[in-house]
Amino acid sequence: MVCRRESYRVRPASRGDLHLIPALERAATKRYGGAGIAKVYDSLCMTAEQIEGRQHRGRLWVAVDRDERPVGFATWSVLDGLAHLDEIDPIAERIGAVNTILVAADGTLEGSNSDGFGFLENLRQAAPQWRAELGPVVLLGAGGSARAAAAALVDAGVPALRLVNRTIARAEQLAQDIGGPIEPYAWAQCGAALKDSALLVNSTTQGMKGQPALEIDVQPLPPTAIVYDIVYVPLETPLLAAARARGLATVDGLGMLLHQARPGFAAWFGVEPQVTPELRSFILADLAS
Ligand SMILES: NC(=O)c1ccc[n+]([C@@H]2O[C@H](COP(=O)([O-])OP(=O)(O)OC[C@H]3O[C@@H](n4cnc5c(N)ncnc54)[C@H](OP(=O)(O)O)[C@@H]3O)[C@@H](O)[C@H]2O)c1
Repeated sequence: MVCRRESYRVRPASRGDLHLIPALERAATKRYGGAGIAKVYDSLCMTAEQIEGRQHRGRLWVAVDRDERPVGFATWSVLDGLAHLDEIDPIAERIGAVNTILVAADGTLEGSNSDGFGFLENLRQAAPQWRAELGPVVLLGAGGSARAAAAALVDAGVPALRLVNRTIARAEQLAQDIGGPIEPYAWAQCGAALKDSALLVNSTTQGMKGQPALEIDVQPLPPTAIVYDIVYVPLETPLLAAARARGLATVDGLGMLLHQARPGFAAWFGVEPQVTPELRSFILADLAS
């Protein structure tokens, strides 16, 4: 797929696109088959039933031109856990998940996780006044993204990480897996956790489009505190709106999404992308459409 970003957009495939997929695949194999590029086959590799099944399961996406005509497609499979990888970097091992896989020259698969990197880079870019030693951090949630954020914050040197989660057992498990100064808190203790904290991070699904707003009062936070919501749809969550109304500095989740892609892009394509205001505007326009 050749893609000039101002002319094409990517969306989930619809049933109406399906009859074009074999033609796109034929064009790609004709152009690139035999060129030695990984994952470009010399002949068609999907049957009509497979194409339909992938679209049905949401695993088929198309790039369309201005006239909504598909000009390329992508599909993927879910592998079970980390079992298929030959090597996993220590951070991904600690977090318990990978989001980037690199095929080494000898064909071995190396897994890594850049979510924590993206989380921290976004915080440093959007709130340059934040430093780990400024004070305790309150992290809401103990799911997959919380594991990455917690590892990044502990490694950055925060003096205390107050981990507030609805299911306390999950917070306790996270504290044990990640290590460092993590203190599990029950949800009802959230107000107490916020007093004297320098940073509040939401990594729960609350406030995300289709979910109820996070039920939390930002009043106990000190006036210098920063509020960071990693949810990025919508960009201005009710939590960020409440923090802004109180005059607190805020950080939204879009930058984390952009920064976490940098290490993978650099490893795959040899180019270190920059997260610029232009890139952010481009993605925002895409999300709005
Ligand atoms: N900006 C980015 O790049 C980025 C990256 C990854 C994720 N995200 C966003 O982060 C959010 C979380 O993703 P995830 O993958 O970590 O999800 P997850 O693994 O499913 O974890 C969900 C978390 O939300 C908590 N939760 C769910 N419903 C709740 C409720 N009613 N009240 C209080 N807590 C509740 C869960 O608590 P329990 O343990 O009690 O169930 C759990 O801690 C999503 O909105 C996702 O879009 C953003």
